[in-house]
Amino acid sequence: MTRWLWLGGAVALAAIVAGAFAFVWHPEIARIAPPATDSFGSALMAEGDNLARLGNCAGCHTADPARPLAGGRALATPFGTVFATNITPDAETGIGGWSREAFGRGMRRGIARDGTNLYPVFPYDHFTHASDDELDALYAWLMTRRAIANQAPSPQLEGVFGFRPLLAAWNLLHLDQGPVRPDPARSADWNRGRALAEGLAHCGSCHTPRNRLGAEDKTRAYDGAMTDGWYAPPLNARSPAARPWTADRLHVYLRTGLSPAHAAAAGPMGGVTRALSEARDEDVRAIAVYFASLMAQAPAARQEEAEPVDRQAIARQAHPEAAILFAGACAVCHEAGAPMMQQGRPPLAWGTPLQADNAHDTVRIVMEGLASPAGSIGPTMPAFADLLDDRQLEELTAYLRARFTDKAPWPDVGEAVARGRAR
Ligand code: HEC
Ligand code: HEC
Ligand code: HEC
Repeated sequence: MTRWLWLGGAVALAAIVAGAFAFVWHPEIARIAPPATDSFGSALMAEGDNLARLGNCAGCHTADPARPLAGGRALATPFGTVFATNITPDAETGIGGWSREAFGRGMRRGIARDGTNLYPVFPYDHFTHASDDELDALYAWLMTRRAIANQAPSPQLEGVFGFRPLLAAWNLLHLDQGPVRPDPARSADWNRGRALAEGLAHCGSCHTPRNRLGAEDKTRAYDGAMTDGWYAPPLNARSPAARPWTADRLHVYLRTGLSPAHAAAAGPMGGVTRALSEARDEDVRAIAVYFASLMAQAPAARQEEAEPVDRQAIARQAHPEAAILFAGACAVCHEAGAPMMQQGRPPLAWGTPLQADNAHDTVRIVMEGLASPAGSIGPTMPAFADLLDDRQLEELTAYLRARFTDKAPWPDVGEAVARGRAR
């Protein structure tokens, strides 16, 4: 009798070990010879091009503009640095040896061709929602890019996070595969927009807060989150925007990075809008329709369009030195009547950076200035990090908040400046 028990126990144990092994071990998918560039139709490649813009693949995978998609760009995470890999069709250092099957597994499950798990800095938790047709198109587009030899550096992660097999457990907990299910009560545009936002366009990867394991907290979708030292503000009913975000306004903003009623896209959002400016217009429109509906209950959407706040006298009294700095360094562009303001740029009071509940974006913009999101002819702002000391930056930031909003002073200005300096 005990012998049978032992045997049963051994069999159960073997099954557990085998199960655990199957769970962390993924087979290598055989290398293929890179497909001939004429093996894909032009319509498929054009669609792939559109999807690559929506997914901003080049934003992460290009470190040097002369070597598009060849990887090497460092991406900071709370656990260390991961480098985007080479996704050109180079056979040795890129994905030239990846079959369509290997590519599909990579995009949907975050597993490389050789079977290793990839870090979710690569937003496969979003790309997993892409359809077969979309993956066909992206594969065709990638495989017909210029092959460039470049080996991306290995990730530099702290302690256990450097151990890739642990990601199998992360996937089990956090990877929600399959298509985004359409809501029949909503318009086709809304559903298309949601599928793109949740899928290839991965908007939540910056705008949704993450838990301690670095996974998005779906119960707080689009509630706003820090990303690489910038604050990606809420895109739902919690939006602190001073003026309502309508579908039309979002459409223009996402295509150009500019809005007559909101601040220009800065930092990482500048890159997103530059990529979207080259995507198909209907798709960007659909994304705008979706987010306008999420923000329909935001405070700004529920009140009359307000005139810009300008509490100059109060702010000058509280921050006299900063008032002088502003008049000298900022007024030429930002004061009502400045030539830039005549060209349709919004007053500072309408920008979300000053309305948000932390000072990070305002401080970053003042320190780093702003590259035009709309290309070389668009509006730009100079960087002030080297012209102002920490105390001047703090005073000026507090002054902006006091003058152009009617909200409470920020408690974290010092921290935001220190963080901006540390970069
Ligand atoms: C937010 C940054 C980011 C974006 C956007 C992004 N990737 Fe990546 N991707 C990465 C990182 C980082 C890695 C490497 C992860 C690792 O080393 O574990 C990666 C890895 C990959 C891999 C695996 C390659 C290999 O050699 O293992 C593929 C395939 C890939 N990305 C395709 C894409 C495509 C296609 C898009 C656009 C639809 C895209 N990526 C957009 C960051 C990104
Ligand atoms: C790489 C990170 C990142 C991604 C991906 C991203 N955003 Fe952003 N977004 C930001 C940051 C940071 C800001 C704030 C910076 C600024 O003030 O311009 C921002 C600002 C915005 C704003 C302005 C909000 C306001 O009230 O002023 C909108 C709208 C927006 N994003 C929409 C989107 C949409 C839609 C997507 C997906 C297509 C997206 N974002 C993807 C980082 C990101
Ligand atoms: C040469 C012109 C120029 C000067 C000088 C300048 N800015 Fe700007 N600034 C811009 C432009 C252009 C934008 C983007 C406009 C838009 O949002 O469309 C901008 C945007 C901003 C924003 C983000 C938009 C918002 O509404 O929150 C802030 C904050 C800001 N500037 C603060 C300052 C401060 C503080 C100074 C002085 C230290 C300054 N700027 C000096 C041109 C300038």
